Amino acid sequence: MTIVEEATDAHLLRFPEGFRWGASTASYQIEGAAQADGRSPSIWDTFARTPGMVFGGHTGDVACDHYNRFADDVGLMDDLGLRTYRFSVAWPRIKPDGGGPVNPRGLDFYDRLVDALLARGIEPMATLYHWDLPQVLEDRGGWTSRDTAFAFAELAAATVARLGDRVPTWTTLNEPWCSAFLGYASGAHAPGRRDPRAAFEAAHHLLLAHGAGVAALRAGGAREVALTLNLTRVTPQDPTDPHDRAAATVIDGLQNRIFLDPVFKGGYPEDMRALFDRFGAGGVIKDGDLATIAAPIDLLGVNYYQPAVVAAQVGAPANPNYPGSEGISYPAQDTPVTAMDWPVDPTGLGDLLVRLSVDYPGTPLIVTENGASYVDTVVDGRVSDPARIGYLDGHVRAVHDAIRRGADMRGYIAWSLLDNFEWAYGYDKRFGLVYVDYATQARLPRNSALWFREVIRRNGLTP
Ligand code: FCB
Repeated sequence: MTIVEEATDAHLLRFPEGFRWGASTASYQIEGAAQADGRSPSIWDTFARTPGMVFGGHTGDVACDHYNRFADDVGLMDDLGLRTYRFSVAWPRIKPDGGGPVNPRGLDFYDRLVDALLARGIEPMATLYHWDLPQVLEDRGGWTSRDTAFAFAELAAATVARLGDRVPTWTTLNEPWCSAFLGYASGAHAPGRRDPRAAFEAAHHLLLAHGAGVAALRAGGAREVALTLNLTRVTPQDPTDPHDRAAATVIDGLQNRIFLDPVFKGGYPEDMRALFDRFGAGGVIKDGDLATIAAPIDLLGVNYYQPAVVAAQVGAPANPNYPGSEGISYPAQDTPVTAMDWPVDPTGLGDLLVRLSVDYPGTPLIVTENGASYVDTVVDGRVSDPARIGYLDGHVRAVHDAIRRGADMRGYIAWSLLDNFEWAYGYDKRFGLVYVDYATQARLPRNSALWFREVIRRNGLTP
C-alpha cells in the first residue's frame, strides 16, 4: 500500500471484521434451461405464457443461460471480488412433482455450482424458495393449501441433505409478502390470482412453510438458518395528523408486522389478525402453527429498495397489493426515482434496520437485496452507470450508519449480479452489476461493479 492510500484508508468508513459482501440472484430469473434434466414447469412458466402478464411476452426459458454458463459466472464473481453469493434453488428441478421423489439431476446442478463457488473461496448462501413454485402444486391450490407448507419442508430436507455439508447459510423464503400479495391478491405476479382471502391464506401457509422449513433445516444440520423479508420504512405524510399515522400503521402491518410478529413475537398483531377474519381466512390458522412459525432463526435477511409515505384520503380505494387498505393514498414525493419509478431514499434503509433492532431485538441482520434499475447503454465496451453507483453508495452508507446506531449488521448483498428476468417487467428492467447482452449472452461488468469491488477490497467506503 502506498502512503497516500494509507492516508485515505485512515478515513475509511470501515465495516466490521467478517462483514459479508456479495451479490444475489434467483433461479427463475437467471438459469434458463427450463426443460433441462427433468425440471417441470413452475408457476412463472405458466404466468409468463399467459398473454398480457409479462412485458413483451418474455419468459425465463433462456434468461441468462446461467444453467450452462455457471462456471464462467462464478469466475466473474471472483473477478469482481464478491465473497458471498446468494442464489436460490428451483423447486421444480429438485422435486418436479412438487412432493414425492427427488430428481437427483436437479440437485446435481446446485452441487456443481456450490463446488465452483467454494473452489474460488466464495461463500454460498442458498435460498430454498424464490417464487418458482412447481405448477403441479399450484394446480392443487398452491399456497392456499396447507399441504404446500409441508411439501416445502420436504424440499428443505432433501436440499440440505445434499448440500448442507458445503452450504453454511440457508434461507427458507424470499419475500413471502410478494408470493402472497402480488401472487394472490393483485395478481401482478404468478400465479396471478386476485382474491384477498387467498392472499391471507397464502401468507399464513408461507409462514408455516418457513417454520416447518426451519425445523427441517435444523434436523438436516444446517449451520445458519435465515428468512428474507421485503421490509420498508412506512411514514405518515403528516406525522402530526392522527389519520395519516393510522394509515401508516395499516401499511406497516400489511408490509412488515404481518410477517415479523409471528416469526419474532409468536403471534399476529391484532390489527392483522382482524384482517384475516375480515377476508374469511382466519380458519387457516391452526393450533400450534404459531409455535412452529416462531422457531428461532440465526439471521434476518432484509430486502430494501424504497420507502413508503402514506396519507389518509377519504374514499380512496384499497391498493390491490394491500387488501384492507381503503382510504389510504400515496402522495407523490419530491425524491429522485429509478427506472422502476421507485423513490430513492437511503435513510429509509437506515431507519428500517435500526427499527428492526429495537422492535425485534436479538437476531442479527443482513441486507440480502438492495439495488436499482436504470436505463444505460454500452459505449466502447463500457457501461457507465453513475446513478446506480450513487444508489448503492448511499445505501451502503446507510447500513454503516445503522451499525453506528446499534444495528447488528452482518453483511450487504447487492441485487443483482446480472441483469435478468425482472418478473412482470421481463428483460426490460436491468438491475445487474453486470450488463448482459441477451443476444450473445456476453457479460460486461458495469462501472458500478468495479466500484463495488473497491468497497469490498477496502471493507469500507471513503467518506
Ligand atoms: C425483489 C425480488 C428480486 C428482484 C428485485 C428487484 O422483490 O426479490 O427477485 O426482482 O425485487
